[in-house]
Amino acid sequence: MKVLVLPTAERAAIRAAGLVADALAAKDRPVLGLATGSTMEQVYADLVARHRAGALSFANATTFNLDEYVGLSPDHPQSYRQTMETLLFSHVDVAPNACHLPRGDAPDPHAEAERYEAAIAFDGGIDLQLLGIGQNGHIGFNEPTSSLGARTRIKTLTRSTREANARFFDNPNEVPRYAITMGIATILDARHAVLLATGSSKAAAVARMVEGPLGADCPATALQMHPKATVIVDGDAAAELRMIDYYQEIHPDGEEPDLG
Ligand code: GLP
Repeated sequence: MKVLVLPTAERAAIRAAGLVADALAAKDRPVLGLATGSTMEQVYADLVARHRAGALSFANATTFNLDEYVGLSPDHPQSYRQTMETLLFSHVDVAPNACHLPRGDAPDPHAEAERYEAAIAFDGGIDLQLLGIGQNGHIGFNEPTSSLGARTRIKTLTRSTREANARFFDNPNEVPRYAITMGIATILDARHAVLLATGSSKAAAVARMVEGPLGADCPATALQMHPKATVIVDGDAAAELRMIDYYQEIHPDGEEPDLG
């Protein structure tokens, strides 16, 4: 696992956006895995700014989001589809039919999960998967005790996740109980996994993910098994890392080492 420690949340988000920009430029038909959550807002803002400056095009890109709430239609204001439209899709040159999220209102959510998994494979798999992390160590909506071998499927959200996400809804009772989410195995298939975590509320989960034992009680620890995982954190989210001096020595200010 590559751990990049940046001094501020903004710098951390810009570093993550830079990796997305690199992935877009690296291939004729790049496939991005995208994430929601407030941590990602600054990443998308930076990508939109790069696009407006003429430095970045999504014209040939395909995107797959990690997850969507079961029961919300794509035009529901709190659906992840709408969140992505607002933060990114409507501001860049990505083809609307190239932006994929699971359909939260599919009549058969289980079949929709299978269809989604197959669609990712059909498009050749994901080149770079953006990830946030929940305070309980979830990635996507793979809550603690999720199978580390699972693929896209329905998950029941924990009470703590529903409470954490209630801020986006008018009424906490409106927070959906279920989500369709890529599984840990789906996420591990991405050719590069990039996890961004900022703020002190993520410090314990980050330390467990990077330095703790591999275990389904913290699904993000599965990234320890990924051959190319990059964890980008600000100082607050890095606060409980025991080996922070080592990470900062290898990657001063989040930069790649000069091996020459
Ligand atoms: C949700 C999303 C996750 C995200 C997490 C943390 O549960 N499904 O993908 O990582 O929230 O979100 P935030 O960045 O708002 O802390």
